[in-house]
Amino acid sequence: MYLQLFLFSGSCMIVDSSDHDPGEKARLQLPTMKENDTHCIDFSYLLYSKSGTNPGTLNILVRVNKGPLANPIWNVTGSTGRDWLRAELAVSTFWPNEYQVIFEAEVSDGRSGYIAIDDIQVLSYPCDKSPHFLRLGDVEVNAGQNATFQCIATGRDAVNNKLWLQRRNGEDIPVAQTKNINHRRFAATFKLQEVTKTDQDLYRCVTQSERGSGVSNFAQLIVREPPRPIAPPQLLGVGPTYLLIQLNANSIIGDGPIILKEVEYRMTSGSWTETHAVNAPTYKLWHLDPDTEYEIRVLLTRPGEGGTGQPGPPLITRTKCAGEVRWIFLFCFVLLLFIYLFLPVCFHCNGAVTIAIVLLCWYCQRSESSYASLAPVFCLCHLVGVNLSFHLLIIEARKL
Ligand SMILES: *[C@@H]1O[C@H](CO)[C@@H](O)[C@H](O)[C@H]1NC(C)=O
Ligand SMILES: *[C@@H]1O[C@H](CO)[C@@H](O)[C@H](O)[C@H]1NC(C)=O
Ligand SMILES: *[C@@H]1O[C@H](CO)[C@@H](O)[C@H](O)[C@H]1NC(C)=O
Repeated sequence: MYLQLFLFSGSCMIVDSSDHDPGEKARLQLPTMKENDTHCIDFSYLLYSKSGTNPGTLNILVRVNKGPLANPIWNVTGSTGRDWLRAELAVSTFWPNEYQVIFEAEVSDGRSGYIAIDDIQVLSYPCDKSPHFLRLGDVEVNAGQNATFQCIATGRDAVNNKLWLQRRNGEDIPVAQTKNINHRRFAATFKLQEVTKTDQDLYRCVTQSERGSGVSNFAQLIVREPPRPIAPPQLLGVGPTYLLIQLNANSIIGDGPIILKEVEYRMTSGSWTETHAVNAPTYKLWHLDPDTEYEIRVLLTRPGEGGTGQPGPPLITRTKCAGEVRWIFLFCFVLLLFIYLFLPVCFHCNGAVTIAIVLLCWYCQRSESSYASLAPVFCLCHLVGVNLSFHLLIIEARKL
């Protein structure tokens, strides 16, 4: 059950623990505030029971922009004695953002004594005993990276305070490192390890001592997903030693902007992989082996460390057989025609053709490895040709 009071100047709250069940809460909510510069809220509090038993807990919550209530930024449990104590709140949430301070008294199992708040004031000057945080900036990282928040605060004696990073959903992250910048200023570093999309939220710095609390603005942790193409690359052309592809990387999963596109390819039967940066929509893979299956994938990179996404789906395709078969047929046909018509009885000419073919093979082998496998075809053509011319020779001989 919540007992809510809407009072301000000179407002107070007294909870008599003996009147309530353990766990019951009373809240005193201050009006929503929109402040432009440094200011301080101070108040008096008392947790007291005659018998010395624990009357309960006093929590202070700061809700920003009507968002969810995060964990308390300050709390005290147990009897603090019969004297009123004074504490300060340095809230660094500025116009146009608004915030609301909520005092919450929670009754303990002891069910005796009082939890009281009094004399709440908004001062137009900085707090004296609680450090004020400077503006906390948003942090953007790629998924899988470590994110770092750095909170800088001004105030005396601040390094001995309790310090943590508070996530708006309630999680508290302990400080990784603190260091003094000078005698009135210190920096605290918070690390979130290998963040994922689920870590994306608002975070703020909190410091607490028995004399009060400081709390920064909420800053956003933005987790970017490295980009990955949705579709495999498209095949535009194929030859025995090359593949012409279109990267097909306009539709992506993840976040842009894309600053680097790479083509990664390998023989499906091999173990090596090659990667080439590409800055055109199409790319020609050269010096491939003929009649071989290749797997080609596209890698995309966005700015920042760890910005390269997983490779997209693969295009699996084969290079053509060495040489164009129809050219071989044409070549054989012309060769045979030549032998038939003009060289029926000329062994010397046959010899010349052999030499020409050997030279052609040698040339092909030198210029493009894929034509090397044409050699057997040429030789076959040649054998057929020689055979035929030999037959013709016999026919001629018979005629004589
Ligand atoms: C804060 O500043 C804005 C514009 O700079 C102004 O409109 C607003 O009234 C100021 N608020 C306070 C509380 O001074
Ligand atoms: C204050 O609240 C935190 C949760 O934010 C809790 O872990 C801690 O024990 C509380 N301290 C006291 C003194 O109640
Ligand atoms: C994140 O930090 C941990 C420990 O500090 C380190 O081992 C790890 O390599 C870091 N990860 C990345 C991606 O930098």
